Parts: sequence; C-alpha cells; structure tokens
Amino acid sequence: MTRASAPGKIILFGEHAVVYGRPALAVPVTQVHADVDVSDSPRAGIWIHAPDVNLHAELASLPSDHPVGAAIRAFPHPALRAPLSRNRERGGGEGIEIHISSTIPVSSGLGSGAAVTVAILRALSSHFSLSLADEQINTLAYEIEKLHHGTPSGIDNTVITYAKPVYFVKGQPIATFTVASPFTLVIADTGIPAPTKESVADVRRLWESDKPKWEKVFNEIGEIAKKARAAIERGNITELGALMDANHSLLQQLTVSSPELDCLVEAARRSGALGAKLSGGGRGGNMIALVEKEEAGRFTEALRSAGAKRAIVTEIV
Ligand code: PMV
Repeated sequence: MTRASAPGKIILFGEHAVVYGRPALAVPVTQVHADVDVSDSPRAGIWIHAPDVNLHAELASLPSDHPVGAAIRAFPHPALRAPLSRNRERGGGEGIEIHISSTIPVSSGLGSGAAVTVAILRALSSHFSLSLADEQINTLAYEIEKLHHGTPSGIDNTVITYAKPVYFVKGQPIATFTVASPFTLVIADTGIPAPTKESVADVRRLWESDKPKWEKVFNEIGEIAKKARAAIERGNITELGALMDANHSLLQQLTVSSPELDCLVEAARRSGALGAKLSGGGRGGNMIALVEKEEAGRFTEALRSAGAKRAIVTEIV
C-alpha cells in the first residue's frame, strides 16, 4: 500500500484580485490534511472509496467532470489505463483500491479540493513508481481545479503542491517568501459552505458591469498583497494586521463578505486581534484573525461565542 498526504491552505491576502492577475499570498495549513491510500486489489477495476462524502464507486461509473474521477484519469501513466482495462475486459484480474479521507472542511476556503487532487496524484505516482515532479503535479492539479472553481487562479493547487508560503501571480513562476518572525492566526469557520465558483462568477459579473471601477479595487488589493509580503519579510506584524483590515473592507466592496463573516471579523477585532479578514472565496467559509501566540486560546473562545463552528490555530513560520 502507498500513502500520500497534502495539507490544507489559507489565503492571507489578495483573493479574487488574484484571478485578475494581481498578487496573492497563501500558506499551507498542516493541522488539516487530505490522505490517500492506494493498494493492489484482486478485484478488477479502479475502486474509489471516500467515506467522508459517501463515495464508493468504480472509476468508469463516475462522470467525466467528477473532480475525483478526473484527478485519477489525469494521472499520466499507461499502467492505470491499459493493463487494468485489459484485465477488466477479461472479466477478472487485478485492480486497485483508492481510499480517500480528509480532515479539511469542504467549500470553506481551506483548499480541500486541491488537497485531495494532489494527494491522489502523489499516491498514484508512488504506487506506480512514476516519481512525478512537483511541477507536473501542480500542472495536473490546476486542470482539476477548473472543475471545482470554473476560472481558478491556480493559487490553491500551487501552495498545496509545494507546501510552502507562496507569493502567487497567475501565469508567473512560483515564488515563495520568508517569514522573518513567526506569527499566529486563528482560522474560524462560519460553518456555511460557500462554493468559490459562485463568488468568483459574481465578482466577474460585477467587474463586467464597470471594469474601471473594479480594476481600481483589484489594484488596491494587489498593493496590499505586495506591502504584506514586505511586512512579513521584515517581521512587522502590526502592519500586517492593519493590511488585513484594509483587505477585508475591499472584499466587502466586492460583495464577497457576508453577515456571518463580518460578525466573526468584528468579534476578533473587539477581542483585540491585530487584524482580521475573510479568507478565500467568501460568502461563508473561513475568516482569519492575526493574534498574539499566547492569546490564541482566548480568541478561539471569543470566535466560538460569536458563532464560529470551529476554530484552528496555526503558526506561520
Ligand atoms: O475559496 P478558496 O480558498 O479556494 O480560494 C479562492 C480564491 C479565489 O481568489 C477567490 C479564487 C482563485 O481561484 O484564486
């Protein structure tokens, strides 16, 4: 049996504007992860078991746009197709079993789709001794992200594949950044699943209705992301908090916040967070609050009392 894992991720700055070519910052979140086991099986076929989403199926029975099926079909190895299908035609022989599990909440901005894809590709890669390079995994995972998100920027698959902080600009080679002084985030979940595809499509409609206006907003978000990278590289955490607040209000203008997200952001600020903002596609899902490490427990309590369904503390190093 071969096993592979991939972490969750969180966007620190620049979501939505990143789809329009502006920079964004994202980091892996190792407290949550997707895990995939691949094992040989005496029964023919490629069997997929993902009990978390109640999926138990043979690959051929999944529609072509099913993200799990598509991730497996994208795997570039003839072993996955020819011998197994020949065996199937013979009505017997070997197959494989793919077990998928994940602790990453779905549709909440933590990159669950991309993490499952990357873990599937890595597990198949080591099962068939193919040693796919990160770059290949990332390219394949981006194709699958299109099924999840419509017009994704590629930030999720990139930060999850490389599992390091990423300064992401669509279409440009991957750039990482250094964290001069570690900082602590509380990631709090509204518990409201919000498909990124929909918020991305709504922002596109907004942009199409008045491009000069929204391009200006994207520029402001892009400038914040650049300043945030510099602040992280200098270890200026106070400035980082102020930049998070500014980014959140621009995301509110883009209509991707929600009363529940605003309520958690306000609760974090009232409790003394250095800054807070929604993270990811918005409308639901998660927000992040920048806090002093020793006080993280107090903030998780405050956010739970304000309605968060769960809160994860993560240190960015
Ligand atoms: O909701 P998430 O965390 O998967 O992130 C979406 C980020 C967007 O900028 C809204 C879309 C994208 O593809 O970059």
